Amino acid sequence: MSRRSALIRTIALLMPVLSGCTASRELPMTTLAPKSDLADWIYHLFLEVTLWDAGILAIVLVAFVLAVFVFSTRVGEAAPPKSAASDLGLEVAWTIGPALVVLMISIPTVRTIFRSQPRIAPEGALHIKVTAHQWWWEFQYEDSGVKTANELHLPIGRPIRLDLVSADVIHSFWVPQLGGKRDVVPGQINELTFVAQIPGTYPGQCAEFCGDSHANMRFRAMVETPDQFAAWTAEQLKPPLAASQIADPAAADGAKMFANSPCVTCHRIEGVSKGYIAPDLSHFGGRTTMAGGIMPNTPENVARWITDPQALKPGAEMPALGLRGQQLNDLVAYLESLK
Ligand code: CUA
Repeated sequence: MSRRSALIRTIALLMPVLSGCTASRELPMTTLAPKSDLADWIYHLFLEVTLWDAGILAIVLVAFVLAVFVFSTRVGEAAPPKSAASDLGLEVAWTIGPALVVLMISIPTVRTIFRSQPRIAPEGALHIKVTAHQWWWEFQYEDSGVKTANELHLPIGRPIRLDLVSADVIHSFWVPQLGGKRDVVPGQINELTFVAQIPGTYPGQCAEFCGDSHANMRFRAMVETPDQFAAWTAEQLKPPLAASQIADPAAADGAKMFANSPCVTCHRIEGVSKGYIAPDLSHFGGRTTMAGGIMPNTPENVARWITDPQALKPGAEMPALGLRGQQLNDLVAYLESLK
C-alpha cells in the first residue's frame, strides 16, 4: 500500500467517528441539550474533557504521521535500532505526560461532582420523594402532599431536591435533558439536586436493568412556569367527585363498580380507596400518559390495559380483571373523568 493510500484510508476510517459529533439537538433522550443547571454543568464538563481529548488526539496523530511519513526508514537504508532502555528524558516524559492528562481531566470532573451534589438541600428547595417500583415511578411532593405517578411536574427557577428510594430492586432515575443518572437503591435515600431552567416535557427512563419491563419503566418531567405549576398543584389538591356528583351516567356507574372491585386493594382514589402498592388514581384522567409512561392516556389504551396488562407490560403485577362491554366502558369513563 502506498503512503498516499494509507493516509486516505486513515481519514476514511475517522469519518464515521467525526460525523457522530453532529448529534441532533432535537433527539428527546439527548444529553447535549441541557435544560437545567445540573445538565448544563455535565454538558460543559463533557465539552471540556472532549477538547482535551481532541488535543491529545491531534498530538498523537501528528506524531503518528511524522513517524510513518517523515522519520521512517526506506527500503535499503535501514539503520540499527537504538535502545531506549536508558533514555531518562523519554522515561520522564512518558510518566509526566499521562499524569498531566489525568490531572487535566480530573480537576474539572471533581469540581463538577462537588458542585452538583450538595449534602444539604438549597434553601427554598422543592422536596419531592421519588419512589421507584417495578415498573413505574411515584412522586410525592413533601410540602403540598400531592402524590402522582409517572409525570413529574416541576417549576422553573426553583431548586428541586429529589429524595430517591426504591420499593423493590435497584433502579436508576434518568432524565437526560435535566441531568445525570442517579441509582435508586433499596434501603437508602439517594439525592438529586438541580434547577430546571427551560419549560418543556422531557422524557425519562429507568437506566438500570430491573426486570422484565425495565424498558417499560418510563416517565416524563414536565417543566412549567411557577404559575402553571401552582395551578397544577391546586388541581391535584382538589378531591375527585363522588359517584353521586358525576354527571356522565357511564362514569357514575364506573365509580360504583370501582368502589366494589378488587382495584381498591392496590389503587388509591381519594375518598374512595386506600390502596398504596399501585399508582394513585385520584387524578388519573389529568395525566397525558399511562402504564409507566409507555403510551398516551386515551380511553382505548385504558381499555386495552385493563383487559390485558401483561400483554402491554410483561411482568406487570396488575391482574386482568376480565371486564368486557358496558362494564369496561363504564370503568374507563370513570377513570378518565378523574381530572
Ligand atoms: Cu427500573 Cu429499570
